[in-house]
Amino acid sequence: MTRQLLIAVVILFSTLIQAKPSTSQIQLPQSPTLSLSVTDFGAAGDGVRYDTKPIQFAVDACSAASAGCGVCHVVFPPGTYLTATVFLKSGVVLEIQRGAKVLGGTRLEDYPKEERRWYVVVAEDATEVGITGGGEINGQGLEFVQRFDERKNVMVSWNRTGACLGDECRPRLVGFLRCRNVRVWNVNLTQPAYWCLHIVGCENTSIRDVSIYGDFNTPNNDGIDIEDSNNTVITRCTIDTGDDAICPKTYTAPLYNLTATDCWIRTKSSAIKLGSASWFEFKGLVFDNITIVDSHRGLGLQIRDGGNVSDITFANINISTRYYDPSWWGRAEPIYVTTCPRHRNAKTGTISNLQFINITSISENGIFLSGSRGGLLRNLKFFNVNLTYRRWTNYSGGLVDYRPGCQGLVKHSIAGIIMEHIEGLEVENVNMRWSEDRSGPWDNPLDFRPSTVNNISLLNFHSGQLYTVTDL
Ligand SMILES: *[C@@H]1O[C@H](CO)[C@@H](O)[C@H](O)[C@H]1NC(C)=O
Ligand SMILES: *[C@@H]1O[C@H](CO)[C@@H](O)[C@H](O)[C@H]1NC(C)=O
Ligand SMILES: *[C@@H]1O[C@H](CO)[C@@H](O)[C@H](O)[C@H]1NC(C)=O
Ligand SMILES: *[C@@H]1O[C@H](CO)[C@@H](O)[C@H](O)[C@H]1NC(C)=O
Ligand SMILES: *[C@@H]1O[C@H](CO)[C@@H](O)[C@H](O)[C@H]1NC(C)=O
Ligand SMILES: *[C@@H]1O[C@H](CO)[C@@H](O)[C@H](O)[C@H]1NC(C)=O
Ligand SMILES: *[C@@H]1O[C@H](CO)[C@@H](O)[C@H](O)[C@H]1NC(C)=O
Ligand SMILES: *[C@@H]1O[C@H](CO)[C@@H](O)[C@H](O)[C@H]1NC(C)=O
Ligand SMILES: *[C@@H]1O[C@H](CO)[C@@H](O)[C@H](O)[C@H]1NC(C)=O
Ligand SMILES: *[C@@H]1O[C@H](CO)[C@@H](O)[C@H](O)[C@H]1NC(C)=O
Ligand SMILES: *[C@@H]1O[C@H](CO)[C@@H](O)[C@H](O)[C@H]1NC(C)=O
Ligand SMILES: *[C@@H]1O[C@H](CO)[C@@H](O)[C@H](O)[C@H]1NC(C)=O
Repeated sequence: MTRQLLIAVVILFSTLIQAKPSTSQIQLPQSPTLSLSVTDFGAAGDGVRYDTKPIQFAVDACSAASAGCGVCHVVFPPGTYLTATVFLKSGVVLEIQRGAKVLGGTRLEDYPKEERRWYVVVAEDATEVGITGGGEINGQGLEFVQRFDERKNVMVSWNRTGACLGDECRPRLVGFLRCRNVRVWNVNLTQPAYWCLHIVGCENTSIRDVSIYGDFNTPNNDGIDIEDSNNTVITRCTIDTGDDAICPKTYTAPLYNLTATDCWIRTKSSAIKLGSASWFEFKGLVFDNITIVDSHRGLGLQIRDGGNVSDITFANINISTRYYDPSWWGRAEPIYVTTCPRHRNAKTGTISNLQFINITSISENGIFLSGSRGGLLRNLKFFNVNLTYRRWTNYSGGLVDYRPGCQGLVKHSIAGIIMEHIEGLEVENVNMRWSEDRSGPWDNPLDFRPSTVNNISLLNFHSGQLYTVTDL
């Protein structure tokens, strides 16, 4: 791409949209990175007028300009850019600068016809794409709240269009669908109306220094959902939201090699959740150096559709889990490993080679490990794990949570670890410390239920009263 051709491309698009003559300089390559500013294409950046066309022209020009010579940045200088769906193209990185905000529209006509493409920013079948710059993409999620409710908000659903059924018909924030070499670095993703960052069928994705701020009372306000994708790295993320924070799923293909490190998470559902969509294999996942606070569930595997799970490591994780309203999945379990058939005739996946190393937790409920007939948990290992059990909310306990599907919520006394359908469990250097329980007796460390548990080894396992507050 020559300098002249690039200028021609820019002038062509500027003319097309009849932008006012631009006074700012187009930054041309000193380094190999090209960049175009949306303001040169006529974006107002006033948060009132829609900037959809200028943004899309800039992306298209940038993609053309980058062809064959690396990536091109579409720059958003400080300002607020209201927009309908932006289609990100190959070779383009959105550089949303500090002080700049991309604001998703809240009208149905701001999104494409097909519900599966309802995103504020979406890349489809693209390579070398990304988002960076230190600024923000904001989905105006609170505008989709029909009725605020501390228990759980009631949300607008665009289900009358026929594009989508049920009560989950709202746009997601950012999607990468069937992409290669994706980077999402240093950006704030805030107020998604539905899921926030959605990675589907991608290869080689890097998510780094991303902060996600959803709403604590909004259902389906997931943080990062990774589906059917290989080789994904998530690091240095902050996620504070209502629903599952990091959530690998398999719908149409397996998911291999996902690493998430150095993250801080708060959620009213699961901090880490595998599933519940689990039709294909999950293999080679590592979660390391993660802090989980105030959540309804810490580390969760909710396998329901026949996919098998293996070679998963959780290491160096501090967890605090408590009860919330039971309409949210989760029962304050720090660790939850389950596989059962979603429906009576569905398949059951197995879960094997799972390690939990260097874990500390304080929680209102114990660990739940439940395989099922035809879907065993095999070869689980807990090494260096300190569990503190205490109650501090008024929600009642005494329920075991098999949702979604399976046996649902079942009355059962709680325990330090409940185990069923397990073949091979090693427990080494594990401490359970108990504080007095205000809601009745809760002092059973290990509950084998029913007797479907084989080959357990306990080495240096302690369970006892928590005597002093400083032990916390
Ligand atoms: C993201 O948002 C948080 C909270 O609003 C703010 O403190 C932080 O500076 C923002 N970060 C970036 C990169 O804009
Ligand atoms: C449409 O969404 C509303 C609001 O969430 C919900 O109450 C209703 O059941 C949904 N209707 C259909 C047909 O899915
Ligand atoms: C993965 O993506 C990054 C950034 O997009 C790129 O630099 C790297 O070369 C890619 N790795 C492979 C193996 O393609
Ligand atoms: C992930 O790897 C598996 C196994 O090699 C392959 O079948 C699948 O297509 C890959 N997925 C993607 C998105 O590349
Ligand atoms: C997963 O990572 C392993 C080890 O780095 C590698 O051998 C394997 O090819 C990767 N799988 C996929 C599907 O890329
Ligand atoms: C763990 O992650 C935090 C960020 O959440 C980071 O500050 C810290 O350096 C990481 N620790 C290690 C040992 O990498
Ligand atoms: C967990 O807590 C311990 C003790 O307070 C601290 O040393 C460690 O850095 C914490 N780790 C994480 C991942 O938060
Ligand atoms: C899971 O493993 C079982 C037993 O090895 C196998 O029969 C089944 O096909 C696997 N499921 C999937 C979805 O690959
Ligand atoms: C567990 O913690 C110990 C002590 O801090 C450390 O030496 C070891 O590397 C950790 N193990 C893992 C798998 O991170
Ligand atoms: C667990 O507690 C023991 C005793 O207080 C301490 O030595 C050990 O480092 C703790 N381990 C973890 C993973 O927090
Ligand atoms: C629990 O209930 C008691 C008595 O009803 C009340 O005083 C207290 O504030 C409640 N605590 C919480 C955390 O809701
Ligand atoms: C019991 O489990 C250990 C590892 O946890 C394994 O090495 C051993 O072969 C198992 N024994 C039987 C009889 O399955």
